[in-house]
Amino acid sequence: MGRIAPRGPHPARGCGARAILADVDDAAAVWRQRQEGRGIPADILATAATNPWHHDVGLFAAPPEPVDSPSRRAALALLPDGGTVLDVGCGGGRAAFALAGRVGHVTAVDQQQDMLDAFAADARARGVPHRTVLGRWPDVAADAGTADVVTCHHVLHNVVDLVPFVRALTEAARRGVVVEMMVEHPMAWLDPLWLRFHGLRRPPSATTDDAVAALREIGVDPAVQRWERGSPGPRDAAWVARRLCLPPEAVPEVAGALEGLERPGVAATLSWAAA
Ligand SMILES: C[S@@+](CC[C@H](N)C(=O)[O-])C[C@H]1O[C@@H](n2cnc3c(N)ncnc32)[C@H](O)[C@@H]1O
Repeated sequence: MGRIAPRGPHPARGCGARAILADVDDAAAVWRQRQEGRGIPADILATAATNPWHHDVGLFAAPPEPVDSPSRRAALALLPDGGTVLDVGCGGGRAAFALAGRVGHVTAVDQQQDMLDAFAADARARGVPHRTVLGRWPDVAADAGTADVVTCHHVLHNVVDLVPFVRALTEAARRGVVVEMMVEHPMAWLDPLWLRFHGLRRPPSATTDDAVAALREIGVDPAVQRWERGSPGPRDAAWVARRLCLPPEAVPEVAGALEGLERPGVAATLSWAAA
């Protein structure tokens, strides 16, 4: 099995990224620049056998019973008995199904049809009244309509234009919004491997603090709770290789490179009342 040769510095993004970031002083622009820094240069993307951005539906199934968390508590504090929830970037419905027993109807939005199919199958099995809306938030906000509580878990790190995204969340909520996110980009722990396998030095990740600063700029002042989500465990090497746009031959070397890398598990819950 051939070793994947480490490359020299990638021309698309080098050590200058930190200096560029330092020039930006409005929080939404800092967020945008850090998120753009997570992009994959076209020449690397062109070598990917599968879409490295695709979310695997099997990884996002909701647990059978609601699991207590700061996000669940924040949503329950806002949600009336039998109230409605709009779950943006629903995946398998973890945020919405955590409210089972209180929620009367869920509108689930996702840009992947397979996520909506998994959500709908689980909602039917649980007897949760629901409807699904396929598309990108905020483009589909008008189709999704409003709800008592808007939940949006683990989507912000996919978003470059944070302001229209968050404004649409707030406008859709009659009572309030609950956002859950990792305190850093969930793939930032793989940055050493981008350097090792592609010579690509990533700029620093956008953080929860960056998101909160951008929200405050538009008059949203969320309550913030940081919490340990529990060890998410390692990702398997084949999954990581796909994410890194590497071929299957690279999997054994990726497995070795993963040893000693820690996948952080600190999450944050951001919640705010509707305007
Ligand atoms: C990391 S998963 C999280 C799923 C679920 N909320 C959870 O916490 O388990 C992110 C989900 O958001 C969806 N997504 C990402 N950006 C989106 C956007 N702009 N509009 C709609 N869905 C989006 C993805 O397809 C994926 O299903």
